[in-house]
Amino acid sequence: MKETRPTLWLRWTCLILFFLFISQTIAVQKEKRVCLGTANLFSRMGPVDEHYQSMKKTFSGCEIVLGNLEITFLEPYHDASFLESIKEVRGYVLIALNFIKSIPLTNLQVIRGNTLLNRQFALCIAYNYGNKNKTQGLEELPMRQLKEIVRGGVKIGRNPRLCGLDTIKWEDIVMSDNILILAENVSLSHCFKCDMEACNGSCWGPGPENCQILTKLSCARECPGRCRGPLPSDCCHSQCAAGCTGPKDTDCLVCRRFRDGDTCSETCPPPYIYNPNIHQLESNPRGKFSFGYSCVSKCPNNYLATDLGSCVKTCQSGSYEVEENGVRRCKKCDGMCTKDVICDGIGHGKLQSIMSINSTNIDDFENCTIVHGSIFILQVAKKGDVFTKTPKLNPEKLKFLRNIREITGFLVIQWWPEIYADLSIFENLEIIRGRTKLYGNISLGIIDQKITSLGLRSLKEVSDGDVVIKQNKNLCFADSIEWKPIFRTNQQARIKNNGPAEECVHNGNVCHPLCSDQGCWGPGTKQCLSYHEYQGGEECGQFCNTV
Ligand SMILES: *[C@@H]1O[C@H](CO)[C@@H](O)[C@H](O)[C@H]1NC(C)=O
Ligand SMILES: *[C@@H]1O[C@H](CO)[C@@H](O)[C@H](O)[C@H]1NC(C)=O
Ligand SMILES: *[C@@H]1O[C@H](CO)[C@@H](O)[C@H](O)[C@H]1NC(C)=O
Ligand SMILES: *[C@@H]1O[C@H](CO)[C@@H](O)[C@H](O)[C@H]1NC(C)=O
Ligand SMILES: *[C@@H]1O[C@H](CO)[C@@H](O)[C@H](O)[C@H]1NC(C)=O
Ligand SMILES: *[C@@H]1O[C@H](CO)[C@@H](O)[C@H](O)[C@H]1NC(C)=O
Repeated sequence: MKETRPTLWLRWTCLILFFLFISQTIAVQKEKRVCLGTANLFSRMGPVDEHYQSMKKTFSGCEIVLGNLEITFLEPYHDASFLESIKEVRGYVLIALNFIKSIPLTNLQVIRGNTLLNRQFALCIAYNYGNKNKTQGLEELPMRQLKEIVRGGVKIGRNPRLCGLDTIKWEDIVMSDNILILAENVSLSHCFKCDMEACNGSCWGPGPENCQILTKLSCARECPGRCRGPLPSDCCHSQCAAGCTGPKDTDCLVCRRFRDGDTCSETCPPPYIYNPNIHQLESNPRGKFSFGYSCVSKCPNNYLATDLGSCVKTCQSGSYEVEENGVRRCKKCDGMCTKDVICDGIGHGKLQSIMSINSTNIDDFENCTIVHGSIFILQVAKKGDVFTKTPKLNPEKLKFLRNIREITGFLVIQWWPEIYADLSIFENLEIIRGRTKLYGNISLGIIDQKITSLGLRSLKEVSDGDVVIKQNKNLCFADSIEWKPIFRTNQQARIKNNGPAEECVHNGNVCHPLCSDQGCWGPGTKQCLSYHEYQGGEECGQFCNTV
């Protein structure tokens, strides 16, 4: 079949658009050389040389470290020059256990501290000396471009040969009050002298090129943030981090929020703007999406564009993933795609005067996501009832409750089959509203069951009413839970007479170390209420704590 002119034209346009799209995505990825970083803390990836090679592979040529920069186990004979390319670290910087003499982080300008060590520190420099022989160790760390640590503090200690860092005015760099520099109890006679005249006594290393350049303490009072000199005309634009080369938002060394081409700005230009004449959102031809700390005209591969103008990995609830014109995006559900199945619970609608979930009504809960009313499971469900011709409830059928996300009334369990060791059938339950309460005050009750853990890992809110969890003789973990963030008003949690604490600990039924102090719903990492901010275990927290 012969192609007509319009279809040919269409094909070419599509091809051209396709290439435009490809080249733009590549441009986005090429913008800066980025790498993921590491989260090993103090573990060594094999023998020291293997560890070194893996570190070198991770950071060679990298300008922006999206995660953490961890420099550990460098020996005097290693070449550390691969670290010179690094300009920005989004997570923390850890420099520990190195015997090498000098670590040339000479271009590092900013540490953002999006993840912190021990929930406090964005920079930790510790234990940089030979195991037994303190005559060997790190002597120079010329971070002469380091101007700003956006979040988190600094901890430096146990570096018996490290010179100069005690002369640095950290208040110029760090926003937090958390600055801990431990004095070393050794002779530093091998150190360079910091030049009073050239550097005013603050040096990263020998020579005038290693003077600390102040960008905050030295500023005129008018400056909104940083500056490049003492005069009011030397102030940097408020969107600059680290410092600047001139007064405009295009002169920043690093952007505080977003980089949009050459400009630093608070937000990226939105992809949709409100047209007041027609009361509708219209697409903005100059709109961009925020991706990390930059504005991009297309989200990179594997990221989804949202209507709010950001690139995300998964769509929020209330929106779903679609492909439109070759772009994957999150689209808002407008009634059509809402997957909620609403059904009557105990005390509401069809079940208005029914006492308990039982074999006759359990089928109505299949696929249900929102329960208007309550979930109340009594002994009568197990035994059945001759009078109302209700058979025994098949425990398998309780799985129909698995999709429930919201209960507007209460959830009280007075019978739960022993084949289930936890309540993970309710693992999708996010909110109990407690608009009706058992005995007028209980909105979550689990009493005298054989379960060993709760498993309610999605539960984020109990809006009203008390929580009563008692006499569950095998139940561990329940005492760990901090209810305050889950409660919304003046509510109580009565957690009593469950599994004895010593027995739980003895059997290892305690929260996973990655869980924060908020506790957990059960064993493993998936049951934590929240997590410690650092990754990789608790050793580091303790380590940096004891420096
Ligand atoms: C420590 O290291 C230095 C330099 O490598 C060496 O001269 C000295 O003998 C060592 N001391 C000990 C106790 O190993
Ligand atoms: C410092 O070193 C000296 C001599 O080695 C020792 O007597 C003193 O207790 C040390 N001080 C501290 C605070 O460790
Ligand atoms: C030099 O340092 C002192 C104290 O640290 C400070 O008061 C003074 O303003 C500094 N001078 C200059 C020129 O930065
Ligand atoms: C079981 O549920 C059915 C339907 O909701 C109801 O008619 C019956 O009375 C209930 N039986 C018991 C013992 O609660
Ligand atoms: C529940 O969802 C499944 C899968 O979507 C479907 O096959 C089934 O018919 C639904 N049941 C009810 C009662 O809606
Ligand atoms: C809940 O109500 C019961 C019965 O009215 C009462 O005995 C109990 O003290 C109440 N609990 C709280 C915490 O108010």
